[in-house]
Amino acid sequence: MISISSMTKSFGPTAVLRGIDLNIEAGELVALLGPSGSGKTTLLKIIAGLEWPDAGGLVVDGKNWLALSAQQRRIGFVFQHYALFPHMTVRDNIAFGLSVRPRAERPGKSVIAAKVDDLLGLLQIAHLADRFPGQLSGGQRQRVALGRALAIEPAVLLLDEPFGALDAAIRRDLRRWLREVHQKTGSTTLFVTHDQEEAFELADRVVVMGEGRIEQIGSADQIHDRPASPFVARFMGAVVELPVTLRAGRAEAAGLDARAVERRAMADGPARLFLRPDAIALEADPASPWRLTHKASNGAMIRATLQQDGGLEIPVDLPRHSAPDLSLGSAYRLRPLTGAVFSFDAAPQADAARPLPILKEKRL
Ligand SMILES: Nc1ncnc2c1ncn2[C@@H]1O[C@H](COP(=O)(O)OP(=O)(O)O)[C@@H](O)[C@H]1O
Ligand SMILES: [Mg+2]
Repeated sequence: MISISSMTKSFGPTAVLRGIDLNIEAGELVALLGPSGSGKTTLLKIIAGLEWPDAGGLVVDGKNWLALSAQQRRIGFVFQHYALFPHMTVRDNIAFGLSVRPRAERPGKSVIAAKVDDLLGLLQIAHLADRFPGQLSGGQRQRVALGRALAIEPAVLLLDEPFGALDAAIRRDLRRWLREVHQKTGSTTLFVTHDQEEAFELADRVVVMGEGRIEQIGSADQIHDRPASPFVARFMGAVVELPVTLRAGRAEAAGLDARAVERRAMADGPARLFLRPDAIALEADPASPWRLTHKASNGAMIRATLQQDGGLEIPVDLPRHSAPDLSLGSAYRLRPLTGAVFSFDAAPQADAARPLPILKEKRL
């Protein structure tokens, strides 16, 4: 088990990790999801022993890893840009980590050969064993890179956007393949990505990071339906933000029917409602201040633009075949299917620090 506690790290004036608390169970595959610059790579490098935190703890299987060198930690690391040795065959690349061990710990030649054969089979690259990296596709090279990382039977496997440079279709294949490999090896794995689809498809538990903090930990459904902060709501595509009044936990505003939005245990008063454009139904309502100002179809979806008395403008995406007849200039009431309410008082950049009542996970 990996246990990260109160970890902070700055580069000069830039606070890159601002108090990370995270536990990863033995054998678990966790995805770390966040936009570029949120500190994901820095966290991996600290776990690998390539960077040191300013403060905080890193305990793995009961041992204080901050007291160990990178070599002593037994880490498997795969980066976005494969760093295979170009002059070595696939077989030799995979064997590398074992063949450079100190003599006393080094397995015999035949043991290494058998181990590499096992991995070539597991990774479905046996037919590539005698090729050189230059003769492989990008996806094949990343399979080899994973083989090299797994050969040393790492205590922890760290994957930093390993499929980031590859085409969407190949990435999808590799995701499925990685899940299978993980099920067979059971390595404790931390997978970093900025791609939501990749994170949710790969991991049961996704850790959402924003600006050096963990914003939320949960399953795809939990993160979609109950974003823990405005940051997560926006990151998950809830880009419609409406000023509302909260009354008995329910969001109210003119031209809004938010009955389907879960009540929020928050004080009455002004609040912000975050909605996804594709989770809003429209109903004709002459009394609503929202008017349809624009609509366009891409064949599957209709993108409607609604505007409030010359002010706030929002996008609404409706499946074309089940959309109501929309006429420009008419008034419509918004009926969100899901949504998230946050308090209005805090400045947006302070949102991450504000505790939220709805989640059980520890807030940082
Ligand atoms: N060695 C370094 N020196 C100075 N700044 C760094 C260094 N490494 C990372 N940073 C900064 O830390 C922030 C987080 O970077 P990083 O951990 O690479 O984020 P991510 O992997 O989520 O994109 C960025 O603003 C980056 O510029
Ligand atoms: Mg990175």
